[in-house]
Order: sequence, then structure tokens, then C-alpha cells
Amino acid sequence: MQLSNLINNLPPYHFANAKKKIADRKAAGVDVISLSMGDPDLPAPRNVIDRLCQAMQETENHRYPEYFGMRPLHEAFAAWFKRRFDVELTPERDILPLLGSKEGLTYVGAAVLNAGDISLVPDPYYPVYVTASATVGAIPYMLPLREQNGYLPDLESIPAHVLAKARLLWLNYPNNPTAACAGPAFFEHAVAFARHHNLVIIHDMAYAEVYFDDQRPMSILQVPGASEVAVELHSLSKTYNMAGFRVGMLVGNPELVSAVGRLKSNIDSGMFRPVQYAAIEALNLPASWLAERNAIYRRRRDLLVEGCNALGMRAHNTTAGLYIWAATPDGYSARDFTTWLFDKTGVFLTPGTNFGDAGEGYVRISITASEERIATALQRMKEALR
Ligand SMILES: Cc1ncc(COP(=O)(O)O)c(C=O)c1O
Repeated sequence: MQLSNLINNLPPYHFANAKKKIADRKAAGVDVISLSMGDPDLPAPRNVIDRLCQAMQETENHRYPEYFGMRPLHEAFAAWFKRRFDVELTPERDILPLLGSKEGLTYVGAAVLNAGDISLVPDPYYPVYVTASATVGAIPYMLPLREQNGYLPDLESIPAHVLAKARLLWLNYPNNPTAACAGPAFFEHAVAFARHHNLVIIHDMAYAEVYFDDQRPMSILQVPGASEVAVELHSLSKTYNMAGFRVGMLVGNPELVSAVGRLKSNIDSGMFRPVQYAAIEALNLPASWLAERNAIYRRRRDLLVEGCNALGMRAHNTTAGLYIWAATPDGYSARDFTTWLFDKTGVFLTPGTNFGDAGEGYVRISITASEERIATALQRMKEALR
């Protein structure tokens, strides 16, 4: 069959391939330890599950849901945003529920970019930023994220001829894959820069609520006037261990939020109502739930950072997000190391190059496995590297 250029130019999604590789190896009897995807292994909160099951019993909820989400979900999210960031959002104007933030990234790209526009992508990056740009014919321009700059893009280094065609700047803090965070000085500069150069900023904040050591990541919308140029994406996937539920939110610039709503309502038919009720329940959970969950992640982080450093893989001391970003052992490229390690030990890590060329020399290690499994993985790595 003759397929479209869009499909012919679209690479397979890395993690779809990775899942297959893992399944094949497991089927062959290997005890695989995957520290690869950022897919929370801990359960969704009990009351969320109960609310979902209860709402499923009501026939009314089996019908088509609202295109733009239920008013109570908008209100719960606005209240959460106010509590968490001290930013006021107008429920139906500034907020759009999404079927996970991943689809929202693609839709915002399509709502802003035309063919031939430049899309500014910090590298390494979550792969969707590049595919969302390329599928509408926009040209990704990479902004390398360097360790010595704290993995923040150097906006001043973008040449004038690139800026003249640039429409969109993607940002993502806490960052996947580097786990870096950005503070007020960076976000204020980015907002001023976007205003000056007529850019839209998409801030992807999927890891907003996974943090350690009491350093709470900030929202770009905390910068005064940011919603004139920016939207932000949130997700319940990592925040409340609800990746399978598919709940995200787009917030910020009302014109762009409304544009994405128009696009989405022409494509899907909204979020299953029981899932919306479950999401409301999650958004109302006490801060203690998060604190307990993050304490579990902190112990895993400590184990991995210490273990990687002992193996000579310089690991960054992550303060937020689900990943450890560590240097590959001397002499290995990122891909060679992860392939060799998987073949030899069954421990599956992600090469930094899966997130762009600037990821060479690094691996991304996910903290979504128990301390016991992480300890076993580290032991296997130690024996293999001996
Ligand atoms: C940086 C980043 N953004 C967005 C997503 C998508 O999350 P979801 O679609 O589950 O909300 C992910 C998932 O791994 C991610 O790492």
C-alpha cells in the first residue's frame, strides 16, 4: 500500500520498540530488570480507584462525555493549581483536560506551527517535540543542553536568521531525560525572550510533583504575564501513579487553550467520565500522600546515585523527576553500553542518544522499580563491569 509521506518519514516510537524487546527477552526466560521507561510501578491511590469503580456503575457515565471536560474537573484543577503554585486559573477559559499530556504536546505544535516554521527544541528532548514539529512540516532547530549550563538552553546563542523563522520554544523542567530543574531567573528570561521574538513557549511539566529534598519545581505561569506567550502541560501519570488512566491538562494562554480544544474536539470525543471523577479525587489528595510517595522515590534515587557513582558512572544528584542521568563507563558509547548491558545482565537502561545527539555519553535510568530490584540491577552491573 502507498502510505503518506507523513508515515514514511515517521520513526517508530522508541519505547514501543523497547517494550517489544523486553517482552521477547522475558519470553526467552531472562529475568529482565527494566529501568527504562518512566512508567510508575506504584499503585494509583485507593480512593481514586474506588471512585472510578463507583462512577462506572452509573449508566449516565457510559454516554459520550463533554468535549472539553466536566466543569468540576476544571474547578478541581484550578484549585490544585492555586494551592500548588499560587496562580489563579479561570476554569473553563484557561484549562483544557487532555487524554494524557502526550497528545496535548502534538496538538499544541499543530495549533502553532506552519510548514517551514522553525521549532526550537532543546536537545536532549522528549521525542514527541520533534515528531510534533516534523509532522506539520516545521523544522526542528536543536539547542544543546550542556552539563556546564545546568542543562538550560542558551537562548542568546540562537542565530538571528533562525529566530526570524522560529515560532515555538519547547521547555521541559523537571527535565526528561537530564532531571535538571529551572528556577525563576531562567523562566523570567525565557518569557521576556519569547515576547521579544514573538515566540510561543510550551512548558511541559509532566514531572511537577515528583521531587525530593523539599525543592518544589516551579510553573512558568508563576512568572507575571507568562500566559501572554506560554502554555504549560500537566499530567496525572507521574503525579498520582495514574499513567494508564490518561489524564493531562493544558493550561495558560486562553487563545491557545481554546485552539487546542477546537482541534481536539474534531478528533476525539473527550475523557471517559469515570476517569474524570477519579482525576478529581486525585487532585484533592492531601499533600501527605505525595510526601510519602516521594519518600519512596528518594530512597531509590539515593541507591542509584550511590551505586552508579561506585561503578564510575558519574550520576547527577537528581532533585526531581523519575530519572537518574549518568555518564556511560569510559570507552562506551551510550548505545553500545546499553545494548551490551542488556545482553549480558538483563538490565535495561535507555541510551542518552534516544533523546537526541546531545545525549551521547549518558544513560537515563528510571527509578520506577523497587529498591530490591534496583539493588539487584546494580549488583549485576557491578559484576558485568568488573
Ligand atoms: C517529558 C514528558 N512529557 C510528557 C510525557 C507524557 O506523559 P502522559 O502522556 O502520560 O501525560 C512524558 C512521559 O513519559 C514525558 O516524559
